[in-house]
Amino acid sequence: MQRILVTGASGFVGSRFVERWRNEFEILAPSHAEFDVTDAQAVERYVTRHAPQVIVHMAALSNTWYCEQHPEESYRVNVEGVCNLAVAAARNGVKFVFFSSDQVYNGNCESGPLSEDVAVAPENVYGRHKFEAEQRALELCPTAVALRATWMYDSERAGMPVHANFVLNIAKTIKERTPLVLPVREYRGITWVRDVVEFLPATFALSGGVYNYGAECSMDTYETACCYCEMLVGLQAGPLLQPDYERYPNHERNLSMSGDKIFRASGGRICFGSTMDGLRIFAEMNP
Ligand SMILES: NC(=O)c1ccc[n+]([C@@H]2O[C@H](COP(=O)([O-])OP(=O)(O)OC[C@H]3O[C@@H](n4cnc5c(N)ncnc54)[C@H](OP(=O)(O)O)[C@@H]3O)[C@@H](O)[C@H]2O)c1
Repeated sequence: MQRILVTGASGFVGSRFVERWRNEFEILAPSHAEFDVTDAQAVERYVTRHAPQVIVHMAALSNTWYCEQHPEESYRVNVEGVCNLAVAAARNGVKFVFFSSDQVYNGNCESGPLSEDVAVAPENVYGRHKFEAEQRALELCPTAVALRATWMYDSERAGMPVHANFVLNIAKTIKERTPLVLPVREYRGITWVRDVVEFLPATFALSGGVYNYGAECSMDTYETACCYCEMLVGLQAGPLLQPDYERYPNHERNLSMSGDKIFRASGGRICFGSTMDGLRIFAEMNP
């Protein structure tokens, strides 16, 4: 059995990864209190002592708004934390897979699905820190794999942490009949976390580099919500979903990513499909 060190195992993605793969891998999942990624010596000690073959690094400050308010803390966790693990992985010959974000694209003006080689200039703290972490980790550990994840969703399940997410926002809107205002000038993939978790072991075999890692999307966010609502309850968006034409006045916000690189590099094993396909399957399986 491959031994995997999972950081952030109590988080939204980490908890689902452990639940899904605990019988297939020997999983080491220290808590934040046992393993603080900002403590370089503790990270090095842990990796040397436990000798994992793979590190899947998901510990982070994942709330963009919080990072904007606490840039120094964000830097320590989201940049230096990644570097500490990259150093330990390189020294110990461990495969290092870590999560970046589609927020690295949030300063881009181009339209259409973005590929990994487009120049980026993120406009928020979280996006800038994720981008710096990618660059520094790859310098420190050239075999590292950085996964640019999209916004993810799941339903509420007992015992599993969940953040505010697209499907919960829509469910609340339908249930409480409180209007939801959504941007028209925004394009972003939204991915069921189940798929993110399912494909993760296939990323262990990828060559070092940066990979887009999530569903593609050609519809704007308001349109995506309208289609999803209609699919769920045959509901015309009507007054429940309201288009916001004013948000992102300078340029359209395009975070939508192309999955071509990871599809090819994984020999077709990692294939997310479109955001709407994912939402359709999710709705069928979570009636
Ligand atoms: N969720 C999304 O939609 C989304 C979208 C794009 C990218 N991502 C990225 O995907 C990864 C996983 O996200 P997530 O949603 O699962 O995050 P999350 O739910 O916020 O979980 C973060 C985890 O990191 C741990 N942690 C925080 N600071 C730590 C530290 N200094 N040392 C050790 N552990 C620490 C937390 O433990 P405690 O709670 O005990 O502090 C928690 O287990 C992150 O890199 C995130 O930036 C997420």
